[in-house]
Amino acid sequence: MFCSFVFCSLCFGNLVVFGNSDAVTVVQVTEGDTVTLQTNVTQLLEKHLITWTFGYPESRIAEINKEAGNFSTYDDVPDGRFRNRLKLDHQTGSLNITNSRTKDSGLYEVTIKSKTENTYNFSVTVYTRLAAPVISSSSSECSSLSICSLECSSEIVGHGSLSWYKENDLWSGVNLSDLSSNISLPLVVHYWDKHKHSYSCVLRNPISSQTRYLNFTQLCGACAVATSGGHAHCCDSTEAVLRLVFTALMGVASLTAIVGQ
Ligand SMILES: *[C@@H]1O[C@H](CO)[C@@H](O)[C@H](O)[C@H]1NC(C)=O
Ligand SMILES: *[C@@H]1O[C@H](CO)[C@@H](O)[C@H](O)[C@H]1NC(C)=O
Ligand SMILES: *[C@@H]1O[C@H](CO)[C@@H](O)[C@H](O)[C@H]1NC(C)=O
Ligand SMILES: *[C@@H]1O[C@H](CO)[C@@H](O)[C@H](O)[C@H]1NC(C)=O
Ligand SMILES: *[C@@H]1O[C@H](CO)[C@@H](O)[C@H](O)[C@H]1NC(C)=O
Ligand SMILES: *[C@@H]1O[C@H](CO)[C@@H](O)[C@H](O)[C@H]1NC(C)=O
Ligand SMILES: *[C@@H]1O[C@H](CO)[C@@H](O)[C@H](O)[C@H]1NC(C)=O
Repeated sequence: MFCSFVFCSLCFGNLVVFGNSDAVTVVQVTEGDTVTLQTNVTQLLEKHLITWTFGYPESRIAEINKEAGNFSTYDDVPDGRFRNRLKLDHQTGSLNITNSRTKDSGLYEVTIKSKTENTYNFSVTVYTRLAAPVISSSSSECSSLSICSLECSSEIVGHGSLSWYKENDLWSGVNLSDLSSNISLPLVVHYWDKHKHSYSCVLRNPISSQTRYLNFTQLCGACAVATSGGHAHCCDSTEAVLRLVFTALMGVASLTAIVGQ
């Protein structure tokens, strides 16, 4: 192995990566960003023949014959999804897919032929660009229990999670599957919680997140002022009750998540 590496380096000046052929390179990007699939060839040589394919059955999407000066992309296969978005690097043979879309996700393969022939696989996932979740008040009337019922909602995002944080602690959350629909996660806070805690709702996928902070004044403020009279000094014992209320609501949220699938 080592000898052939030296041999290659001397004769062709290229760096072929050995012992890596079983590895699948994982590439994860957010839609709209460019997917870059690298050959790791520093400089193409006359003898280089490179073929890029996508999916199964394989569609040949790009081809290089350095000697013939032929750098071709085929963006009409498998269904035109790559139209005008495939770019070959003429120095390295690497492939860019610009303005990526979730539909570009899948298996890509490159075969690099010079003195030797090697095939490498790339597992590409293009994630939806996340919009910040929305926090709204779920009841229009002020509560006689002095609680403010909120919910944090998100549109379809695919694989990820939606969570409430109380300061930096995870307070509640649901995992979303690729099949999840729109989802909302409830939160109940006390009117007098205002100055003690800051809450935030976080939407995540495997590569990014979006956070929305609860604006207590905006969503619960009017009620808090209207009912603050006798309850000015409260205590944390109410929290246990809130947890119970919350747990009941969580059941509903999970159910929503399951029904959404
Ligand atoms: C790449 O993936 C295909 C399809 O799963 C598999 O048949 C092939 O053996 C893989 N090649 C390498 C080099 O891992
Ligand atoms: C190129 O190098 C990167 C980083 O070492 C590696 O993850 C990737 O699998 C390599 N690609 C090929 C085609 O060997
Ligand atoms: C490049 O290669 C393709 C496929 O082999 C071939 O159809 C095309 O005519 C070639 N183009 C040039 C400029 O050689
Ligand atoms: C491919 O994308 C990378 C990163 O965006 C960029 O640096 C490079 O110039 C692009 N290459 C081509 C051939 O478009
Ligand atoms: C998800 O929410 C968005 C915005 O509120 C709405 O336009 C869309 O129809 C909803 N989708 C589903 C499947 O409920
Ligand atoms: C959500 O997924 C994370 C990581 O996979 C796991 O640790 C957690 O227990 C899951 N939560 C739920 C409510 O399923
Ligand atoms: C919260 O909402 C109030 C009323 O809408 C607004 O005046 C205030 O600037 C907001 N606070 C933050 C931190 O956004």
